[in-house]
Amino acid sequence: MPRRALIAGNWKMHKTVTDATLLAEQIAAAGRDATDRDILLAPPFTSLGAVTGAVEGSGIVVAGQNVSWEEQGAFTGEISPLMLKDLGATAAIVGHSERRQIFGETDSMINKRLRGGLEQGLSILLCIGETLDERESGDALAILEQQVRAGLAEVSSTQMASVVIAYEPVWAIGTGKTATTEQAQEAHGFIRSLLCDLYEKDIGNSIRILYGGSVKPANIDELMAQPDIDGVLVGGASLDAESFGRIINYK
Ligand code: PGA
Repeated sequence: MPRRALIAGNWKMHKTVTDATLLAEQIAAAGRDATDRDILLAPPFTSLGAVTGAVEGSGIVVAGQNVSWEEQGAFTGEISPLMLKDLGATAAIVGHSERRQIFGETDSMINKRLRGGLEQGLSILLCIGETLDERESGDALAILEQQVRAGLAEVSSTQMASVVIAYEPVWAIGTGKTATTEQAQEAHGFIRSLLCDLYEKDIGNSIRILYGGSVKPANIDELMAQPDIDGVLVGGASLDAESFGRIINYK
């Protein structure tokens, strides 16, 4: 079965509730005819409820940008899977490189978030990616392997139906530098074969692997033409309805 494409927008720490609502409405309109692919929006927590309302009936999935492994308790600054669901979100991103690099999140913490979210019925986008130093020293694939193995520790084959992997080379995020399609396809092919080793082949082949890092209207068609690129996770270019609309409607 061919994998259904997923075009995801991560708004990071951008947009007030008013701005997020407007953008979500514009994106829903832009994606109206793109019925053969999935669309996901990850606004800041404060706008989740408004965005869920704005995209109602469009089929767009709304996601949190992170999720706690606890249901509730004394965890200042965290948000629980139940709270995300309460606002209409059905998915969450975990392990984004900004969480890893700026906020010191570890593979084991990310694995707990992923499992906690899955246990509460959320779909999870697990982000992985190497830094420039790691790529230049030839360690990129070893780092990806470590992040996949640790991130998916104790996750069952059945649970993998609700997991998407996003490969985002850290050196390509927000820098305007995109991995070449060959670099991206090499990483995606490697991740795919690792998933086939870790789970049954059928499952490995059914898991969607997204590319992220300076995706824009100018490079979307070429990226989506690669056999193991099943979609994209877009930061900057998802903040504007026209550019994200073009990305959603890739050829
Ligand atoms: P970018 O961000 O598209 O702005 O490079 C990608 C991401 O961080 O998911």
